[in-house]
Amino acid sequence: MNLTSFIVMDVLERALEMERSGVDVVHMEVGEPDFTVAPKVKERAAEALMEGLNKYSPSYGIPELREAIACFYRKRYGVDLNPERIFITPGSSPALMAAIRMLAEDYGERIAFTDPGYPCYKNMVRFFGLKEVSVKVFEDTGFEPRPDQIRDADVLIINSPANPTGSVLSLAELEEIVEVARDRNLGIISDEIYQGIEYEEKAHSILEVYDRAVVINGFSKFFAATGWRLGWIIVPEDKIRLFQCIAQNLFICAPTPLQYAAVECFTEESLKVYRSYVEEYRRRRDYLIPALKDLGFGVNYTPQGAFYVFARVDAFTNDSFSFAMEALEKAKVAITPGKDFGENLTHLYVRFSYATSLEDIRKAVKRLREWLSTT
Ligand SMILES: Cc1ncc(COP(=O)(O)O)c(C=O)c1O
Repeated sequence: MNLTSFIVMDVLERALEMERSGVDVVHMEVGEPDFTVAPKVKERAAEALMEGLNKYSPSYGIPELREAIACFYRKRYGVDLNPERIFITPGSSPALMAAIRMLAEDYGERIAFTDPGYPCYKNMVRFFGLKEVSVKVFEDTGFEPRPDQIRDADVLIINSPANPTGSVLSLAELEEIVEVARDRNLGIISDEIYQGIEYEEKAHSILEVYDRAVVINGFSKFFAATGWRLGWIIVPEDKIRLFQCIAQNLFICAPTPLQYAAVECFTEESLKVYRSYVEEYRRRRDYLIPALKDLGFGVNYTPQGAFYVFARVDAFTNDSFSFAMEALEKAKVAITPGKDFGENLTHLYVRFSYATSLEDIRKAVKRLREWLSTT
């Protein structure tokens, strides 16, 4: 099977090996919040375990959580959702896989996603033996796909805010994509896992303009719970029964005690905590970008969401893979080479994750400065 490694995990594994031999490494490779879940969420998780809520839940998730999510969509996006369209999944990754397979069945096997883009899309498409359609995006157009690029596809995966670029699609841009989808009978999967982490304008859900899209989201990013393995998928009304069968057979259910705890994520008290994390990400972004430019990196697009800077390294090299490996070995700063995210000019980019403390980010900048001054 023609799968590629998830390079960021290779970098992380090497960094952990270095740490085990006593080397201090600054982690700016993984996309994992350094914050913990909000206090009430943590308390409810402990209680749920103590209450012995250790049985399977329904395959679609506990009703309380589906309702809390439906209510969140009403308040945040003005979208009225039948909670039965929402399925709680063990992380968003399995939901994504199921969505790709489900839509390929209906719309066809050519699955499009941006290059650069989230690496697992490509590998999931390959895993199912489907065909990749690469949609090349560029920094001078905000790393956004143009509607004319998706005409050859059967299914399009969009990701706003995007990994690795931090690009955010406006409502008008979503509408343009939807127009093509309607015209050409194109299936749409909207991976909205970074929603809530946005700095200029609010990121929109595709559901505001297109009810037939399949939406993927979860608790890993805004809700800072990567290890909980909890996500959700929203499917069109006519796919409810099919997705129930998929969930029953492929996942059985998501972790039950954590589903009870996740209900607490949507209270005003917890949301306030999560919004304060976004303000901290903003402070880090606003420190990191000028600092990187000062070091000689090219940051020609300011990320509008997520917690990544996709920075150019052409002032130093045209091989960002070796550059990232050397940054790890010599400067002890772990970053992800652009190659992880595709083929389109990615040899000229590296990704910095600022989901790590400002103190560590400052340390990384200092180390990079010292290393670059000797090369
Ligand atoms: C764009 C994107 N989608 C999905 C995921 C997977 O998230 P989860 O932890 O919910 O499986 C990630 C994780 O980094 C991501 O960046």
